[in-house]
Amino acid sequence: MTTVAPSAGAGDERAQTSNASATARAYPNIALVKYWGKRDERLMLPAAGSLSLTLDVFPTETTVTVDPGADRDRFELDGAPASEEQTGRVTRFLDLVRERAGTTARAVVRSTNAAPTGAGLASSASGFAALAVSAAAAYRLDADRLALSRLARRGSGSAARSIVPGVAVWHAGEDDGSSFAEPVDAPPLSMVIVTIDRAMKAVSSREAMRRTALTSPFHAAWISDTAQALEAMLVACRDGDFTRIGRITETNALRMHAVIQSADPPIQYLAPTSVAAFDEVRRLRAEGLEAYATADAGPNVVALARPADAEAVADALAHLGETTIAGPGPGAALVEPAGGTA
Ligand code: DP6
Repeated sequence: MTTVAPSAGAGDERAQTSNASATARAYPNIALVKYWGKRDERLMLPAAGSLSLTLDVFPTETTVTVDPGADRDRFELDGAPASEEQTGRVTRFLDLVRERAGTTARAVVRSTNAAPTGAGLASSASGFAALAVSAAAAYRLDADRLALSRLARRGSGSAARSIVPGVAVWHAGEDDGSSFAEPVDAPPLSMVIVTIDRAMKAVSSREAMRRTALTSPFHAAWISDTAQALEAMLVACRDGDFTRIGRITETNALRMHAVIQSADPPIQYLAPTSVAAFDEVRRLRAEGLEAYATADAGPNVVALARPADAEAVADALAHLGETTIAGPGPGAALVEPAGGTA
């Protein structure tokens, strides 16, 4: 449908006059130095910087079609209308895009995730990175990669990093302009994802992060330790030192889960099988197969390995859950929609 309709908003000088549409694909990322805590919740500035690997599996594909005749945004997730809460998050994000584009025209957003949504496989990172790139194009914003990373950050902090291919550092920054992700040179890395539970997490990262900052007596120590871990990680990446990268990764992950567990009421994302996976990775190391474990806000565990060892690590962890081997993936980018243009 390509009807020409007036914009929904009065005083809208650069109103969209056609149903401009754009599709983007973005991949999840797994942090080696975690983001857990905000300095500014409105601007989504993190309390410390972080570093991640954008993966080449489980992409999100999102199409934004501007619909000037509509009185509200519509959001369809994996073929079904999204919840009110999810649609509200998308609308608040699109409001930022519309403000910059100088329009109030609403949109239809269709998104599909190759990984289960909300199960700690970073779908909010790939989701908002894909939304940032597709919405910026559909609303005709002039945005380079740095600007897209800043924009994606406003939807979900970790999405700032999925704009970037491979290893990305997200600078904590001082303000909106200086908090963005950019690529970092690193040695070849593989990840083995162990999917232990596909259920939605009980407490969202957003809420759990807030609760941790408000109630954990260890929060300040966690933030200053993470800032130091990031400095050490950047040196280890520059040196191409896999062992140091791995040690920092595992220690930082365990410390993040420790600070989360110390919130009141406490939050426990790791399941008994997740703990077993950490133990198994430690056992593999003792046997000479060098891998390091990490986990985001959910029970699934990810093992970091050298590419040559990834198959052996996956075989050793297969009894704990479905394993997927991933390598460095591309940054978020526009693609041709599968069914042709809207
Ligand atoms: C554990 O980016 O999902 O995956 O910014 O509130 O949307 P919001 O949180 P989100 O948190 C990610 C937390 C993490 C660690 C990480 O990816 O660095």
